[in-house]
Amino acid sequence: MKIGRKSMITRQWAGTATKTVTWRTSVVQGLLDITPGDAEEIFGDLRADRRRFVVADAELWACHGDQIALFLKRLGIEYGEPPLLLPGGESAKTRENADRVIAEMDDFGLGRFGGVIGWGGGVLHDVLGVAAGEYRRGIRGGITFVATTVLCAVDAAFALKCAVNGNWKNRVGLYSPMNSVCDPVFFRTLNDVDIRDGFAEIVKWALAGDGHLFDLIEEHGARVANEKFQRGDSATRSLLTRPIAVGMAELTSNPWEDETARPSYLGHNWSPVFEPSERHGQAVALDMLISAMIAWRKGFLSRADRDRIVRTIGTLGLKLWSPVLEDRELMRRALWDAALHRGGRQYVPLPYQEIGKVTFCELTETDVQRGCEDLYGYVAAEFSQS
Ligand SMILES: NC(=O)c1ccc[n+]([C@@H]2O[C@H](COP(=O)([O-])OP(=O)(O)OC[C@H]3O[C@@H](n4cnc5c(N)ncnc54)[C@H](O)[C@@H]3O)[C@@H](O)[C@H]2O)c1
Repeated sequence: MKIGRKSMITRQWAGTATKTVTWRTSVVQGLLDITPGDAEEIFGDLRADRRRFVVADAELWACHGDQIALFLKRLGIEYGEPPLLLPGGESAKTRENADRVIAEMDDFGLGRFGGVIGWGGGVLHDVLGVAAGEYRRGIRGGITFVATTVLCAVDAAFALKCAVNGNWKNRVGLYSPMNSVCDPVFFRTLNDVDIRDGFAEIVKWALAGDGHLFDLIEEHGARVANEKFQRGDSATRSLLTRPIAVGMAELTSNPWEDETARPSYLGHNWSPVFEPSERHGQAVALDMLISAMIAWRKGFLSRADRDRIVRTIGTLGLKLWSPVLEDRELMRRALWDAALHRGGRQYVPLPYQEIGKVTFCELTETDVQRGCEDLYGYVAAEFSQS
């Protein structure tokens, strides 16, 4: 084949390979009481090799470390005691911390087929995922991540992607499949802000694909947030399991995000630039509020449904406004970057016709500005009435 005036490909080889990836996420009540016989389901085969590289969120360990250590001992898991403890919070989602995990994996003598157990929230999940995906070009033995925040349990834990922050939120990362598990017992020690942050992602899944979940949030969300998921009633259980069901359905049909029209981009169109001024969940909530306003303005959503979304987000204790929404240049850059990420188009999902359904749009700066103005008007009117 001629490829220029003087050049010619004389021989060429092509390779194609497929790999099936299987991952599980589970909700377990009483994880720390699990028997060694049942542990395999969650932590893999412990008979052949009991060595596990263990890493945990430092705050989680301060609250639950004694029980977790006893649990690991009861299962006969051999790990470097104490485990590697890393801080949580967005400022800890760094290349340096991923490198630290890699260095500790080396010191531990973790093989390519060795096992890993992580305990923590979305930040540790992502840092560990990057490290485990890079170490020896990817740990094959299996990673179990115990999601100890609401946000991680209903989102990060079962998403295959992991990233650390660079100049931009989540700029560097990879896909690092993990099995995960959550037990609401750990949510007891979360502070109110972390619980609210988690609820923002629950609202996202409701808007993205489960209208009934939204009804449940509307009716029970504030109570369940106050109780930190500690009551085992059916609404509490559903508020944890339904978002995972919607999320897993989306991810299993589009695991590598090759399809860029993703309903779960809801809440993630502008939010990356709202961080770190706003926390992740709060940033997602603000993003969804703008989307609801734009959807209403475009005639996609009734005023009643728009107001239900705004009210519900408010009753969860999430802010309805932030000064970050006044920075038009920042908002413009957010959509520009979203389009770079999504193959040249924005694919902004907007609620459509009813809560739980979306349509995808390309937005102008005027659409976005109007959305912010409408939100501001709503908030100002509410404030003047109260
Ligand atoms: N990979 C993905 O697909 C994905 C999806 C959603 C979110 N994320 C990422 O997740 C991060 C946010 O996750 P997060 O909200 O869990 O934050 P986080 O991991 O920082 O945890 C929040 C706080 O809770 C503490 N903590 C954790 N478990 C605790 C417990 N049981 N009791 C007391 N304190 C505890 C942590 O130390 C931290 O201070 C963001 O960086 C976001 O980008 C990733």
